Amino acid sequence: MTKSHVTMTVNGKAVEALVEPRTLLIHFLREQLDLTGPHIGCDTSHCGACTVDLNGRSVKSCTVFAVQAEGGDLRTIEGMAAADGTLHALQEGFREMHGLQCGFCTPGMITRAYRLLQENPNPSEAEIRIGISGNLCRCTGYQNIAKAIHAAAERMNAAKEAAE
Ligand code: FES
Ligand code: FES
Repeated sequence: MTKSHVTMTVNGKAVEALVEPRTLLIHFLREQLDLTGPHIGCDTSHCGACTVDLNGRSVKSCTVFAVQAEGGDLRTIEGMAAADGTLHALQEGFREMHGLQCGFCTPGMITRAYRLLQENPNPSEAEIRIGISGNLCRCTGYQNIAKAIHAAAERMNAAKEAAE
């Protein structure tokens, strides 16, 4: 099958590759770029485990072809922590508030929460729950996930205020 040449920025790094037109973005990330943080939980755009950030929007990478991300700016869970390894406020929040059990949903959940907090830095619990409604967790019951996102929002807002 003829392959297409794609270029995009992934976690701040320029990437180029040849992909088959049928290759899904999740398969491109996991199999060609070795970014195995985004998970495949359903392949039917239901679970959100494959969520990545593409051009400022949360997308389920099992529903996007890699060629559709051509020229795009992409962030996965691997790009959340700082270069020196300092965890993102959301990663800290999930750790502190026990926002995960098996961890299968966590990369997608955190990546989704990242965009949610970019769009609404001070969400209510209801807004958090609606914001993550496209991401399923089969373990936690969502209580601690909501707490983790709330804690991250507080931490990010405090850091922003301190920097002003
Ligand atoms: S694997 Fe993409 S939504 Fe479940
Ligand atoms: S922590 Fe297990 S699916 Fe969410």
